[in-house]
Amino acid sequence: MSDSIYDEAYYTGGRGAYRHYEYNAKWKRRASRLMARFGDARTFLDVACARGFLLRGYVENGVNPEDVYGIDISEWAVAHSESIISHRTRCCSIFDFSPTVRWDLVTAYDFLEHIEKERMQEVVSILEECCGKYLQVVLMISKASWDTDVSHQSIMPLDEWIGYFNLRLHDTETCGHVVTATFERIGE
Ligand SMILES: C[S@@+](CC[C@H](N)C(=O)[O-])C[C@H]1O[C@@H](n2cnc3c(N)ncnc32)[C@H](O)[C@@H]1O
Repeated sequence: MSDSIYDEAYYTGGRGAYRHYEYNAKWKRRASRLMARFGDARTFLDVACARGFLLRGYVENGVNPEDVYGIDISEWAVAHSESIISHRTRCCSIFDFSPTVRWDLVTAYDFLEHIEKERMQEVVSILEECCGKYLQVVLMISKASWDTDVSHQSIMPLDEWIGYFNLRLHDTETCGHVVTATFERIGE
């Protein structure tokens, strides 16, 4: 799918999942919960970070901006990323991302369903390669009636999703049409 779909209209109500994609207190709370749960995580990568809201949330909870990083394919989203972390975001497709370091906690929320199944294994392997300790992904397991996002390409049952991962599955939490799955790197 062309990356040009992720333009301003995608985030502001024209055609994507969003009506008003702006930072709010939810992101700081989300970051706080992640930091509490993964207490030994010091560095944070958010794949498909869009405008970097989760990254800003970490910083507002006391993380040094230099310890967060995000990538997103959307030129518009990265150009409009939150100023406090904009120098820590990069416009880049996951397929072109080949980091030389690992991050303690890697998150990828509402992202993998945007990848075609034929390339899913490749993308999951990249996420796992970036992961130093924990990987948390939000996966779409069924199509919601309200879902009008035409960029969704891969929606599948949880078992099928899990089959792509090699890291150890820690737990899953289902909420309607999505599952939050947490994996961890053990014994390396
Ligand atoms: C539904 S949005 C989720 C954004 C953010 N993670 C959130 O939860 O608010 C999906 C994001 O995936 C990004 N994306 C889609 N394909 C991508 C790719 N191949 N590489 C990197 N980012 C991609 C889009 O630009 C978009 O920002």
